Amino acid sequence: MNRTLKFNIFRHNPRDPNSTPRMENYTLEESSGMTLYMALTLLSEEQAPDLAFDFVCRAGICGSCAMVINGRPGLACRTLTEKLPTKITLMPLPTFELIADLSVNTGKWMRAMSERLETWAHLQEETNINKLEAPMEPGLAEQIYELDRCVECGCCVTACGTARMREDFIGAVGINKIARFHLDPRDTRTNADYYAVLGDDDGVFGCMTLLGCQDVCPKDLPLQTQIAFMRRKMALG
Ligand code: SF4
Ligand code: F3S
Ligand code: FES
Repeated sequence: MNRTLKFNIFRHNPRDPNSTPRMENYTLEESSGMTLYMALTLLSEEQAPDLAFDFVCRAGICGSCAMVINGRPGLACRTLTEKLPTKITLMPLPTFELIADLSVNTGKWMRAMSERLETWAHLQEETNINKLEAPMEPGLAEQIYELDRCVECGCCVTACGTARMREDFIGAVGINKIARFHLDPRDTRTNADYYAVLGDDDGVFGCMTLLGCQDVCPKDLPLQTQIAFMRRKMALG
Protein backbone atom coordinates (compact mmCIF):
# COMPACT_ATOMS: atom_id res chain seq x y z
CA MET A 1 0.00 0.00 0.00
CA ASN A 2 1.35 3.42 -0.94
CA ARG A 3 2.16 5.71 1.96
CA THR A 4 2.26 9.46 2.31
CA LEU A 5 5.75 10.55 3.29
CA LYS A 6 6.27 13.62 5.43
CA PHE A 7 9.67 15.18 4.95
CA ASN A 8 11.29 17.59 7.37
CA ILE A 9 14.32 19.04 5.59
CA PHE A 10 17.05 21.41 6.75
CA ARG A 11 17.19 24.57 4.63
CA HIS A 12 19.88 27.27 4.72
CA ASN A 13 22.14 29.00 2.26
CA PRO A 14 25.07 30.49 4.20
CA ARG A 15 26.00 32.70 1.24
CA ASP A 16 22.58 34.37 1.22
CA PRO A 17 22.50 37.09 3.92
CA ASN A 18 18.69 36.77 4.08
CA SER A 19 18.75 33.04 4.75
CA THR A 20 18.33 31.65 8.26
CA PRO A 21 18.73 27.98 9.24
CA ARG A 22 15.32 26.35 9.44
CA MET A 23 13.42 23.10 8.87
CA GLU A 24 10.80 22.93 6.12
CA ASN A 25 8.04 20.36 5.64
CA TYR A 26 7.08 18.62 2.40
CA THR A 27 4.64 15.83 1.64
CA LEU A 28 5.07 13.23 -1.09
CA GLU A 29 3.27 10.06 -2.17
CA GLU A 30 5.60 7.09 -1.94
CA SER A 31 6.02 4.88 -4.99
CA SER A 32 7.35 1.35 -5.27
CA GLY A 33 11.14 1.13 -5.09
CA MET A 34 11.48 4.82 -4.25
CA THR A 35 14.88 5.89 -2.97
CA LEU A 36 15.64 9.12 -1.16
CA TYR A 37 17.36 10.26 -4.35
CA MET A 38 14.11 9.80 -6.26
CA ALA A 39 12.10 11.49 -3.53
CA LEU A 40 14.42 14.52 -3.40
CA THR A 41 14.39 14.80 -7.18
CA LEU A 42 10.58 14.81 -7.18
CA LEU A 43 10.48 17.37 -4.39
CA SER A 44 12.87 19.67 -6.26
CA GLU A 45 10.87 19.26 -9.49
CA GLU A 46 7.46 19.82 -7.93
CA GLN A 47 7.79 21.68 -4.63
CA ALA A 48 11.22 23.05 -3.83
CA PRO A 49 13.09 24.04 -7.02
CA ASP A 50 15.90 25.69 -5.03
CA LEU A 51 16.57 22.68 -2.76
CA ALA A 52 20.31 21.92 -2.82
CA PHE A 53 21.49 18.31 -2.58
CA ASP A 54 24.29 16.33 -4.24
CA PHE A 55 24.08 13.28 -6.47
CA VAL A 56 26.34 11.99 -9.22
CA CYS A 57 26.27 8.21 -9.66
CA ARG A 58 22.98 7.22 -7.99
CA ALA A 59 24.60 3.84 -7.36
CA GLY A 60 26.55 4.15 -4.09
CA ILE A 61 29.84 4.73 -5.90
CA CYS A 62 30.62 8.47 -5.82
CA GLY A 63 29.83 9.09 -2.13
CA SER A 64 28.38 12.54 -2.83
CA CYS A 65 24.82 11.97 -1.58
CA ALA A 66 25.62 11.29 2.09
CA MET A 67 23.34 13.05 4.54
CA VAL A 68 21.87 12.47 7.99
CA ILE A 69 18.70 10.43 7.54
CA ASN A 70 16.50 10.30 10.64
CA GLY A 71 19.59 10.90 12.76
CA ARG A 72 21.86 8.39 11.02
CA PRO A 73 24.44 9.18 8.32
CA GLY A 74 23.83 7.28 5.09
CA LEU A 75 23.76 7.45 1.30
CA ALA A 76 20.47 8.87 0.02
CA CYS A 77 20.71 7.05 -3.31
CA ARG A 78 20.98 3.68 -1.55
CA THR A 79 18.22 4.31 0.97
CA LEU A 80 14.78 2.97 0.11
CA THR A 81 11.97 5.04 1.59
CA GLU A 82 10.09 1.82 2.41
CA LYS A 83 12.81 1.06 4.98
CA LEU A 84 12.02 4.33 6.78
CA PRO A 85 9.02 5.48 8.79
CA THR A 86 6.65 7.93 7.06
CA LYS A 87 8.27 10.86 8.90
CA ILE A 88 11.68 11.47 7.37
CA THR A 89 14.07 14.11 8.68
CA LEU A 90 17.01 15.02 6.45
CA MET A 91 19.98 17.06 7.66
CA PRO A 92 23.33 17.85 6.05
CA LEU A 93 26.42 16.06 7.39
CA PRO A 94 27.89 18.10 10.25
CA THR A 95 31.71 18.48 10.50
CA PHE A 96 31.90 19.47 6.83
CA GLU A 97 31.48 22.96 5.39
CA LEU A 98 27.85 23.63 4.52
CA ILE A 99 27.30 24.66 0.90
CA ALA A 100 23.50 24.89 1.17
CA ASP A 101 20.60 22.79 2.48
CA LEU A 102 21.73 19.13 2.23
CA SER A 103 24.89 19.86 0.26
CA VAL A 104 28.24 19.89 2.09
CA ASN A 105 31.84 20.21 0.95
CA THR A 106 33.23 16.77 1.82
CA GLY A 107 35.77 17.19 -1.01
CA LYS A 108 37.57 20.02 0.79
CA TRP A 109 37.88 17.97 3.99
CA MET A 110 38.95 14.81 2.14
CA ARG A 111 41.55 16.68 0.11
CA ALA A 112 43.09 18.29 3.22
CA MET A 113 43.18 14.88 4.95
CA SER A 114 44.72 13.19 1.88
CA GLU A 115 47.40 15.85 1.49
CA ARG A 116 48.26 15.69 5.17
CA LEU A 117 48.55 11.89 5.16
CA GLU A 118 49.98 11.76 1.61
CA THR A 119 47.52 9.07 0.58
CA TRP A 120 49.33 7.96 -2.52
CA ALA A 121 51.95 5.28 -3.10
CA HIS A 122 55.44 6.58 -2.36
CA LEU A 123 57.50 4.76 -4.96
CA GLN A 124 61.25 4.32 -5.29
CA GLU A 125 62.61 6.88 -7.70
CA GLU A 126 63.67 4.29 -10.28
CA THR A 127 60.22 2.59 -10.32
CA ASN A 128 59.16 2.17 -13.91
CA ILE A 129 55.76 1.37 -15.30
CA ASN A 130 56.53 -2.37 -15.54
CA LYS A 131 57.32 -2.59 -11.85
CA LEU A 132 54.35 -0.43 -10.99
CA GLU A 133 52.03 -2.80 -12.82
CA ALA A 134 53.80 -6.05 -11.89
CA PRO A 135 51.40 -8.82 -10.82
CA MET A 136 50.64 -8.82 -7.11
CA GLU A 137 49.96 -11.86 -4.98
CA PRO A 138 46.14 -12.32 -5.40
CA GLY A 139 45.37 -12.47 -1.68
CA LEU A 140 47.23 -9.22 -1.07
CA ALA A 141 45.62 -7.54 -4.08
CA GLU A 142 42.24 -8.58 -2.70
CA GLN A 143 43.05 -7.07 0.72
CA ILE A 144 44.10 -3.77 -0.88
CA TYR A 145 41.05 -3.75 -3.14
CA GLU A 146 38.82 -4.26 -0.10
CA LEU A 147 40.16 -1.08 1.56
CA ASP A 148 40.11 0.85 -1.73
CA ARG A 149 36.29 0.52 -1.81
CA CYS A 150 35.99 3.65 0.37
CA VAL A 151 33.91 6.24 -1.53
CA GLU A 152 34.91 9.18 0.74
CA CYS A 153 31.28 9.82 1.64
CA GLY A 154 32.11 11.22 5.10
CA CYS A 155 29.54 9.13 7.00
CA CYS A 156 32.24 7.69 9.29
CA VAL A 157 33.47 11.19 10.17
CA THR A 158 29.94 12.37 11.01
CA ALA A 159 29.33 9.31 13.21
CA CYS A 160 32.58 9.74 15.15
CA GLY A 161 32.52 11.53 18.51
CA THR A 162 36.26 12.20 18.32
CA ALA A 163 35.93 13.89 14.93
CA ARG A 164 33.19 16.11 16.36
CA MET A 165 35.47 17.19 19.21
CA ARG A 166 38.81 17.35 17.39
CA GLU A 167 38.79 19.40 14.24
CA ASP A 168 42.02 17.86 12.89
CA PHE A 169 41.22 14.22 13.66
CA ILE A 170 41.78 12.20 10.48
CA GLY A 171 38.85 9.90 11.13
CA ALA A 172 38.40 6.27 10.22
CA VAL A 173 38.54 7.23 6.55
CA GLY A 174 42.10 8.54 6.99
CA ILE A 175 43.26 5.58 9.05
CA ASN A 176 41.76 3.19 6.50
CA LYS A 177 43.63 4.95 3.70
CA ILE A 178 46.97 4.72 5.47
CA ALA A 179 46.32 1.05 6.29
CA ARG A 180 45.79 0.50 2.56
CA PHE A 181 49.19 2.00 1.65
CA HIS A 182 50.87 0.21 4.53
CA LEU A 183 49.80 -3.03 2.84
CA ASP A 184 51.02 -1.96 -0.60
CA PRO A 185 54.47 -3.48 -1.29
CA ARG A 186 55.26 -0.66 -3.74
CA ASP A 187 55.02 1.97 -1.01
CA THR A 188 58.49 2.66 0.42
CA ARG A 189 57.37 4.39 3.62
CA THR A 190 58.56 2.91 6.92
CA ASN A 191 56.61 2.66 10.18
CA ALA A 192 58.51 5.79 11.33
CA ASP A 193 57.23 7.67 8.27
CA TYR A 194 53.67 6.59 9.03
CA TYR A 195 54.14 7.48 12.71
CA ALA A 196 55.05 11.03 11.70
CA VAL A 197 51.63 11.60 10.15
CA LEU A 198 49.48 9.21 12.19
CA GLY A 199 51.08 8.70 15.61
CA ASP A 200 49.36 11.41 17.65
CA ASP A 201 45.97 12.35 19.08
CA ASP A 202 44.77 13.62 15.71
CA GLY A 203 45.70 10.20 14.29
CA VAL A 204 45.27 6.64 15.57
CA PHE A 205 45.81 7.56 19.22
CA GLY A 206 42.88 9.99 19.17
CA CYS A 207 40.44 7.22 18.30
CA MET A 208 38.45 6.22 21.39
CA THR A 209 37.09 3.03 19.78
CA LEU A 210 33.57 4.43 19.68
CA LEU A 211 32.92 2.36 16.52
CA GLY A 212 30.20 4.58 15.12
CA CYS A 213 32.35 4.70 11.98
CA GLN A 214 32.02 1.00 11.27
CA ASP A 215 28.30 0.99 12.15
CA VAL A 216 27.44 3.53 9.46
CA CYS A 217 29.98 2.84 6.69
CA PRO A 218 27.80 2.19 3.61
CA LYS A 219 30.57 0.09 2.06
CA ASP A 220 30.84 -2.14 5.17
CA LEU A 221 34.57 -1.55 5.40
CA PRO A 222 36.34 -3.34 8.26
CA LEU A 223 37.28 -0.05 9.91
CA GLN A 224 37.61 -1.44 13.43
CA THR A 225 40.20 -3.97 12.23
CA GLN A 226 42.18 -1.33 10.32
CA ILE A 227 42.22 1.07 13.27
CA ALA A 228 43.41 -1.68 15.63
CA PHE A 229 46.04 -2.80 13.09
CA MET A 230 47.49 0.68 12.58
CA ARG A 231 47.41 1.46 16.28
CA ARG A 232 49.36 -1.72 17.02
CA LYS A 233 51.88 -0.88 14.30
CA MET A 234 52.35 2.63 15.61
CA ALA A 235 52.61 1.51 19.26
CA LEU A 236 55.24 -1.13 18.42
CA GLY A 237 57.21 1.31 16.22
FE1 SF4 B 1 32.37 6.50 3.70
FE2 SF4 B 1 33.13 4.14 4.74
FE3 SF4 B 1 34.87 5.61 3.36
FE4 SF4 B 1 34.09 6.43 5.77
S1 SF4 B 1 35.29 4.59 5.31
S2 SF4 B 1 34.27 7.71 3.96
S3 SF4 B 1 31.95 5.73 5.79
S4 SF4 B 1 32.98 4.66 2.57
FE1 F3S C 1 35.70 7.45 15.84
FE2 F3S C 1 35.56 5.08 14.77
FE3 F3S C 1 37.48 5.64 16.47
S1 F3S C 1 33.86 6.28 15.50
S2 F3S C 1 36.56 7.12 17.85
S3 F3S C 1 37.22 6.54 14.47
S4 F3S C 1 36.39 3.73 16.28
FE1 FES D 1 26.78 8.57 -5.78
FE2 FES D 1 24.82 8.35 -3.97
S1 FES D 1 24.82 9.52 -5.78
S2 FES D 1 26.80 7.50 -3.87
